[in-house]
Amino acid sequence: MITLVIDGQEIETAPGRTVLEVAREHGIHIPTLCYHEAMEPFAACRLCVVEVETGRVRRLVASCAYPCSDSLVVHTHSDRAWSWSKGMPAAARERTVTVVPSWSGETPVTLPP
Ligand code: FES
Repeated sequence: MITLVIDGQEIETAPGRTVLEVAREHGIHIPTLCYHEAMEPFAACRLCVVEVETGRVRRLVASCAYPCSDSLVVHTHSDRAWSWSKGMPAAARERTVTVVPSWSGETPVTLPP
């Protein structure tokens, strides 16, 4: 098992899982567009961008494709992550909605901020 921190919440998980998978499992909302659990992530839309800290380095990554690692610190709503999403549609930018592609067969869900 490895331990990481997402938005201040310490979480234990198995290695090899993505940040998005673990966040969702613990009720932490990260908006997505191109991700679908039935497919391999290809990190095309970048709507799921979060800021991660590994040692002294902080950077933006696509949470749907970024693997969890021990001692990783994740910020889903940091200023940098919010700045990155300025080019996104308003609802997605405010991270209050998950956009579901029509081909997925799922019903779009609006979540509270
Ligand atoms: S959901 Fe599209 S890049 Fe992660």
